[in-house]
Amino acid sequence: MTVTLRLETPADHYAVEAMTRDAFWRFWEPDREICEEHLLTHRLRAAGGFVPELNYVALADGELAGHIIYSKSRIERDNGEALETLTFGPLTVRPDMQRKGIGKALMRRTFDEAKRLGYPGVIIFGHPDYYPRVGFRRASEFGITTSDGKSFDALMAYPLCDGALDGAAGKYYIDPVYDTLNQADALAFDQKFPPKARIDAVLIGVLLERLGADAAKAIESLGFQTLELMRSKSRREILALPGMDEISVGTVSAVMAEHGWVWGR
Ligand SMILES: CC(C)(COP(=O)(O)OP(=O)(O)OC[C@H]1O[C@@H](n2cnc3c(N)ncnc32)[C@H](O)[C@@H]1OP(=O)(O)O)[C@@H](O)C(=O)NCCC(=O)NCCS
Repeated sequence: MTVTLRLETPADHYAVEAMTRDAFWRFWEPDREICEEHLLTHRLRAAGGFVPELNYVALADGELAGHIIYSKSRIERDNGEALETLTFGPLTVRPDMQRKGIGKALMRRTFDEAKRLGYPGVIIFGHPDYYPRVGFRRASEFGITTSDGKSFDALMAYPLCDGALDGAAGKYYIDPVYDTLNQADALAFDQKFPPKARIDAVLIGVLLERLGADAAKAIESLGFQTLELMRSKSRREILALPGMDEISVGTVSAVMAEHGWVWGR
């Protein structure tokens, strides 16, 4: 298989959105009827902070297989200054092409380009055990928190040069377009694409019934109704919950894998 990367063109838009819809189709949360990432991709291209120089597609043997889209973000530093950073997402790899290095290749290429453009770093919310594989660190290591001061492993930072995010402690803000999404708009936008059967969420009970009492209580304390939401937590965050141990974390990993999710590796 030959993977090539190039900038997205308008002729790619529909296919990229359809691929994004396919890749995120399973991501149900209790109050969500449909994924919103294909609409997000569509809106990001028109957003004020959109960065066209980093809007890349991946082709595998000439066929669309992945996409990464960036917008400008900023850190309101504790010292009162603002630092312009980048945020990507959605990062999408076509479901049948996942785990072949395409996600990593899209990140590596665009990080090189972003560095050339002079940005200090990339800040994201994402799978907390996946992105450290390409060099992301916990945002908390740099003193970076969400805009409301929260800190968790899914908030990650990648300095584009050594030390570029040192002293960047402060609150992180993303493009306002991320806050414009809602279910009604996503359902209306989805009409552009062929009908697709809904996949019901897997309830957290399938995991709880496989764990001992203490570990089950620990997972229940997260308040997650669906198994999918476990993906927002890192292995180390789950292991740190009172009542969890290595064996129970192994069970979480196994149950996730049974339902098609990579978690805790
Ligand atoms: C997540 C995603 C972008 C990764 O891209 P990819 O091309 O499949 O991944 P890569 O081939 O670059 O890397 C694969 C490695 O990461 C691991 N990995 C993938 N998803 C992971 C996760 N959620 N947690 C931990 N590790 C993960 C794989 O196990 C694999 O490891 P291995 O090489 O040791 O087997 C892709 O799977 C995808 O589009 N998923 C659906 C949409 C999504 O979740 N997007 C990201 C939102 S934050």
